[in-house]
Amino acid sequence: MEVQQIWETVKEAIVAYTGLAPATFFTLVALLFAVYYLVSVMFGSPAYEDYRRHGERDMEEEQMPPLKPPVQIGEVTEEELKAYDGTDPEKPLLMAIKGQIYDVSQSRMFYGPGGPYALFAGKDASRALAKMSFEDKDLTGDISGLGPFEIEALHDWEYKFMTKYVKVGTIKQTGRDLDVDAKPTEAAHSETPSHVDADKDE
Ligand code: HEM
Repeated sequence: MEVQQIWETVKEAIVAYTGLAPATFFTLVALLFAVYYLVSVMFGSPAYEDYRRHGERDMEEEQMPPLKPPVQIGEVTEEELKAYDGTDPEKPLLMAIKGQIYDVSQSRMFYGPGGPYALFAGKDASRALAKMSFEDKDLTGDISGLGPFEIEALHDWEYKFMTKYVKVGTIKQTGRDLDVDAKPTEAAHSETPSHVDADKDE
């Protein structure tokens, strides 16, 4: 009975002080609480911050393990470079162009296993890049006999690599001519006009 009386007094007080029907008053109070709770959870609550940061960290870890800083490997043979084709996640992902080895680990999505350019990883891909070719026979640093357009394409690729990646070593020369600035050989001119492909844009 007492509870009933208190309830009646509260209702009267609500009407007297707010001019609102008790139902309307309680709905408003509930709404205010809901809004306050949402705002404080979204922007202030340490629990929410924690949850958010954790979520972000999880996503980063899943998508991209932290990159190790590039390590200089000095002079290696093309054969030795193959060990850096991305199949061993402990090793950096390396690729060479014109005998210069670059750490391309940051572009694992291109050169890592399953990537569209995985075939270049662990190799000097100069010839393939110059000729815009994915053929096995062109997956080599041998750039003899390239045509002028191919040499130009190769220079563009080299510039891209020099400006985007850290150089970490060089390919041990095996007597092969790596001087692309030399005039194209006769063979280049008599070759089928494969350089036609070279000025195709990506
Ligand atoms: C249909 C033809 C091709 C298309 C549509 C295409 C498309 C692309 C795209 C969208 C990128 C990413 C660019 C970026 O985000 O920086 C890329 C990168 C690349 N493409 Fe192609 N590409 C094609 C053919 C080729 C060919 C023929 C080669 C060489 C044989 C090649 C070699 C590369 C390389 C090496 C990269 C990565 C460059 C880097 O490390 O930043 N692409 N390509």
